[in-house]
Amino acid sequence: MCGIVGYIGSRDATPIILNGLKRLEYRGYDSAGLAVLQDGAIQVRRDAGKLARLQTLVDEAPLNGHVGIGHTRWATHGEPSARNAHPHLGMTGEVVVVHNGIVENYIELRQELAAEGAIFNSETDSEVIVHLIERYLSAGKGLTEAVRQALVHLKGAHGIVTLSTHEPDKIISARIGNAGGVVIGIGEGEMFIASDLPAILEHTREVVFLESRQLAVVAREGVQVQTLEGKKVNLSIHHVAWDPVSAEKGEYRHFMAKEIHEQVRSLTDTIAGRVDFENGHGVRLPELHLTAEKARRIKKIFITACGTAAHAGMVGKVLIEHIARIPVEVDIASEFRYRDPIVDADTTVLAISQSGETADTLAAMEEARRKGAMLWSIVNAIGSQAMRLADGYISMQSGPEIGVASTKAYTAPLVDLYMLAILLGSLRGSLDKPSRRRLVSDLRLIPDLAGRCLDREGQVEQVAYALKDVQHCLYLGRGINMPTAYEGALKLKEISYIHAEGYPAGEMKHGPIALIDRTMPVVVIAPRDPWYDKMFSQIEQAKARGAVVVALATDSDERIANIVDYVLWVPETPWMLSPVTTVIPLQLLAYHIAAIRGLDVDQPRNLAKSVTVE
Ligand code: AGP
Repeated sequence: MCGIVGYIGSRDATPIILNGLKRLEYRGYDSAGLAVLQDGAIQVRRDAGKLARLQTLVDEAPLNGHVGIGHTRWATHGEPSARNAHPHLGMTGEVVVVHNGIVENYIELRQELAAEGAIFNSETDSEVIVHLIERYLSAGKGLTEAVRQALVHLKGAHGIVTLSTHEPDKIISARIGNAGGVVIGIGEGEMFIASDLPAILEHTREVVFLESRQLAVVAREGVQVQTLEGKKVNLSIHHVAWDPVSAEKGEYRHFMAKEIHEQVRSLTDTIAGRVDFENGHGVRLPELHLTAEKARRIKKIFITACGTAAHAGMVGKVLIEHIARIPVEVDIASEFRYRDPIVDADTTVLAISQSGETADTLAAMEEARRKGAMLWSIVNAIGSQAMRLADGYISMQSGPEIGVASTKAYTAPLVDLYMLAILLGSLRGSLDKPSRRRLVSDLRLIPDLAGRCLDREGQVEQVAYALKDVQHCLYLGRGINMPTAYEGALKLKEISYIHAEGYPAGEMKHGPIALIDRTMPVVVIAPRDPWYDKMFSQIEQAKARGAVVVALATDSDERIANIVDYVLWVPETPWMLSPVTTVIPLQLLAYHIAAIRGLDVDQPRNLAKSVTVE
């Protein structure tokens, strides 16, 4: 979850690195630092705290150099402090390293290196890397070879960037496993390295992505990539369409607010070019490389993901089973990867991941691969590991999602799963043409329906004021909107720190209804869908026990409005797409409660945007 930025060129490296790190703030961090080659020596500035602290250090003791690396740290070993902040210098002062990931065998390596005379200045696992490189440099190896030989000793997943006074005209970077990406930006007589695209997009859109077990030698003129075994690799250059401005807040107070309101655009974009609304009403998802033969061969689908992405998968289960008649099992990735799932060549495993770098999800994908499954992913981050690991993928096409609480990267996969279900049903013959035409026509309504939900933000904000001081909250849903209850609760708890719980409404009578009294507000998701009548009686049961009830209801449903305390209105929506509209008021509700409470909406405590460690 750390942020990394490197630069080599003819411009001043320091501001480029600092601005790049600022673009990666959302990844979460508790300390920051940078190192620059200046007059043949390595100068380091680093400390615990936010980037403002690092800026102060640089202002007090300026750095001047054209080659440098920077880092924002999310502590895994050693508390946030100056000595534990990256970059890490070794003993000679001739090598410096920044690292993303966990050196799983750092204790043995530390002992081995100390026995050779290495002196450690930090409690971090990362510091062993710089001492290993120094070991091989002092044995007369060149920098590239010294880095390669050092990496051989490391267990775990890593993203590493290093520079040295030995060869000041290059930066070496390497990637092992899935500890966050390494992307190399190609400029004119200058090169950029980063752990994520937003850090370098203002400088270049031409990038290459390092794969696992690859090492890059980056010089001003360009980059040479090789495997850790030394075999030359030709990586394809990607042109990235995202522009840096879209990664800014615009007129919004928080990224989360911007991204909630971007959902009309992101839903339009995730549909764009994939649906034939005029003629055959077909769906095209070319990156899946799906043929009728492959589609007919699928006996079962596992959907695996974490957090919000897992909630999208739960909706996907209902859609794919109902439309394509294929059995679907949803498994959160941290469970799937360890439970020896029954997976074979007739099983498809679909991973959903906004960042495409979530360690548990990637590990689940690797487990599926090992067991011979066909592997798909739905990702937002192009070039991410989850995209490149899969046999086929669907891009969310939502643009950068910076707020830690996922919003547009929840509704986009709902639509992707809806389109996937139609495609599978069509290819397998379980969906006839008239039904397909209706489903495709319904899809056309979605961006406008989402827009109408957003137009009601004022009503939601009023409810937020009413609920801003609650200590607990229950979210109840059924059927295709049961995951909506889980997602609404997750949004509230992760940004407002209020204990919120999503629950299958039908389960209340089996225990949780004991919780309900006037101190336990209940959000009931009760749009006009096939489960409406059951939800209506749920509302009556909650009211009978004195609860404050907030109902999410379809426009003009006076029957519900007459018995609840507050209503969050949603426009009439075809039930299979209703999770797209029902979630938007809940996103807004969580956002406004957290904003009213004055909390750090975009970077909630203890959380990071991409959980690249277990
Ligand atoms: C959702 O708001 C959270 N930020 C978190 O649950 C997130 O969905 C989860 O970590 C999965 O992330 P991914 O989609 O990038 O894999």
